[in-house]
Amino acid sequence: MNQEFNLSYQLISSEAQLHTADQQLVTAAKEALTRAYAPYSKFQVGAAVRLHNGQLIEGNNQENIAYPSGLCAERVALFYAGASFPDQPIEAICIAVEGTLIAAENYVSPCGSCRQVMLESESRQQQPIRVLLVQNDGSILILNSCRDLLPFGFMK
Ligand code: THU
Repeated sequence: MNQEFNLSYQLISSEAQLHTADQQLVTAAKEALTRAYAPYSKFQVGAAVRLHNGQLIEGNNQENIAYPSGLCAERVALFYAGASFPDQPIEAICIAVEGTLIAAENYVSPCGSCRQVMLESESRQQQPIRVLLVQNDGSILILNSCRDLLPFGFMK
């Protein structure tokens, strides 16, 4: 039997079209990337998470000379939120990048491991997490749920 997975997302041309709370989230992600420790890839990633109580949590990529020992920005932010505020549902996560690693024609979007962690953050709180992905041209791709980034994810 043929089945379909439908993905709907929004692409807005600039953050000016966002509500204030989301604009602040974008600003936080952009600020966070300036503090990334990325001497090896020279690709800075910032992530900002908004909790239900309005608090913003920031993370950025933290690299290491033993390359696999580093961690992506999204997981730094999500694990910090989980470690410090486990009872606060996450409303939204925003990701912003700086660097030339991603070709202009490709979307800025989280890696597979981060998608897996995003999926579980969402499933454990039983509420969708909106995802805002700041693109190189300033446009913003918005998804209503982390599930949309990882269909058929590994879930309990
Ligand atoms: N990186 C992230 O922080 N998030 C992603 O979703 C993909 C990649 C980081 C890891 C590494 O420090 C650098 O970007 C280059 O891969």
